[in-house]
Amino acid sequence: MPLSGPSGSLPLPAFLEKRLFSTPPRVRSLNINNINPHVKEAKYAVRGELAIKSEQYKAQLAKGEGKDLPFDSVVAANIGNPQQLDQKPITFFRQVASILENPALLDAQEALEKSSGYKSDVFERARKLLKDVKSVGAYSQSQGAAGIRQSVADFIERRDGYPADAQSIYLSAGASSGVNTLMSVICASPQTGILVPIPQYPLYTATLALQNAHCVPYYLHEESNWSTNVDGMRDALKKAQKQGIDVRAVVVINPGNPTGASLIPEAINSVLELAAEEKLLCIADEVYQTNIFEGEFQSFKKGLRDLQKSA
Ligand SMILES: Cc1ncc(COP(=O)(O)O)c(C=O)c1O
Repeated sequence: MPLSGPSGSLPLPAFLEKRLFSTPPRVRSLNINNINPHVKEAKYAVRGELAIKSEQYKAQLAKGEGKDLPFDSVVAANIGNPQQLDQKPITFFRQVASILENPALLDAQEALEKSSGYKSDVFERARKLLKDVKSVGAYSQSQGAAGIRQSVADFIERRDGYPADAQSIYLSAGASSGVNTLMSVICASPQTGILVPIPQYPLYTATLALQNAHCVPYYLHEESNWSTNVDGMRDALKKAQKQGIDVRAVVVINPGNPTGASLIPEAINSVLELAAEEKLLCIADEVYQTNIFEGEFQSFKKGLRDLQKSA
């Protein structure tokens, strides 16, 4: 017997009839009015209005238009990509990566050294990494490949002069992904607040907006070489607490972006002491530790171990 619809001889059960023959629900499109409102609050100035405008100018100039513009080329300095300014990428990393992607190149060592400028330490490093990681382009441990974490720990140990444990190291796909994960863990409620330096790299304010948590700003001042002012930090913290905000962490960017300032050990100590007093997590963003304009870099980890040793 054929299955019949509303006009057929055998009526269908009501629930099936409704499902099969009622008008389909209106298709809802995803649009600016119904997306997650916190996404709209997340501002990322380095990729914002100015960057969009500069792309428009570039396209205009490429088409031979824009004769009225007071310039004839656009240099994108917004996301700090030195290769946009013709800085050559570091050859060593590229060559090691090429062997990891294609281990068959190990058999062509002599030819590559002769004809393509590969150096013998590139092959040494690639062999070591392939031994530790086995192959690239596949899933690794969630915490990151053990061999890489060990080499990060060795680097930190050499840098700070204190032991570093590979078990306590988590690798992430760039700093932004690490900060996102950390913020997701810390931001337990809309009352959560995090102390963030201003001026800052917008990753922090944007991630807090996405998490629907509070950015508690503390200000850096040019007169003090863009250093942290711990009294100003404490005032910002107390003011936020009075407003019912549960301040749980302090972010420090050292060396600073966009300030370029490196914190002296005394400044690092006073931030760590404030964090200990107020039971705050301390998030030290040290992505620019090898880009030093003035002074010397000292890590927050070394500062903490020094304080613990002297206590
Ligand atoms: C201070 C600071 N932290 C984090 C990041 C983001 O790093 P990544 O590109 O590895 O996500 C940047 C990028 O410019 C930065 O300046």
